[in-house]
Amino acid sequence: MIILGIESSCDETAVAIIKGRTILSHKIFSQIDTHALYGGVVPEIAARAHAEKVDPLVAECLKEAKLKLKHIDVISAGQGPGLIGGVAVGLTYAKALAFALDKPFVAVNHLEAHALIPRIMDEIPFPHLVFLASGGHTQFVLINGIGDYKIIGTSLDDALGEAFDKTAKLLDLPYPGGPYVDNLAKKGRATIDLPRPLKGTPEPNFSFSGLKSAVRRIVKEKTQPYTKEDLCASFQEAVCDTVADRTKVVLKLVPQIHGLSFAGGVARNTALRATLKNICAENNVPFFVPDPALCVDNGVMIAWAGYERFRLGKTSSLDVAPYPRKNLEDVK
Ligand code: KG4
Ligand code: ZN
Repeated sequence: MIILGIESSCDETAVAIIKGRTILSHKIFSQIDTHALYGGVVPEIAARAHAEKVDPLVAECLKEAKLKLKHIDVISAGQGPGLIGGVAVGLTYAKALAFALDKPFVAVNHLEAHALIPRIMDEIPFPHLVFLASGGHTQFVLINGIGDYKIIGTSLDDALGEAFDKTAKLLDLPYPGGPYVDNLAKKGRATIDLPRPLKGTPEPNFSFSGLKSAVRRIVKEKTQPYTKEDLCASFQEAVCDTVADRTKVVLKLVPQIHGLSFAGGVARNTALRATLKNICAENNVPFFVPDPALCVDNGVMIAWAGYERFRLGKTSSLDVAPYPRKNLEDVK
């Protein structure tokens, strides 16, 4: 079974071809340099760049996988959430390809794709829990099956990736700042006292705006001396401490689960990967985290989620529409 996956929800055009669990090709074209001029992603420019890049990327992936279009069995694309213009480009391209080739088409939810990608490595039995942390979401999701998702905890304000990005911006680090904070933190010491929002509360929710404000006060109002390295190390320690506390709470709340996986762009963070691994070991819960390249937006996760749906007969009709927002619990 050979699946083509297309992702175009934000500022990366990503295409991949997988054969079951094997990745045959995997290409990402990042538009970051184009948007950097404007200090953030410009939706119209993103949509146009996706339209220019998606077809050449599919051609490159086919070449690398030594395949022709006729060898593709299933075509899969992200349906949202995301910037609607970009999502429409990838989705429409994939639908047109499926129609022209007369192949099954599977539309997948972007968050579902992040949440399911750890399963490409291991067939984690259901139910299992996912800690999904990206630029837009921070959620504990109980996966009872494909299309059966329950959100057990969530951020009440900023997403964790957003908190990393805003901290980076305060420190004049490039966008997206998560990886830069992660790198500087390794060179610093956690000497600065920062809050651990919602730590100790009984619901497994998150809040990061207070942490961000504390960093802002130190940087903008110069309330105490700091080095960027120490501030990043202190921020990251506060985040790890909070995530560890919230994870302990959620593990007590959920029924018997077969594992906890970590997904979304923030799952690249080395300190957080280690923190979650330890908490899981202490609680005898198997821990799964994908290769860092599969944590950020990519085509493999779309192809894999497409495969998970296809093997259950959950294909999509060619008249499905893109959407800008959707709660994972509403994905059936
Ligand atoms: O999943 P993703 O690629 O896109 C969304 O769907 O949002 O996640 C992007 C987020 C950004 O906020 C980025 O700063 C963060 O993931 N990120 C990291 C690291 N690598 C990426 N955050 C912390 N540490 C990292 N190493
Ligand atoms: Zn994403």
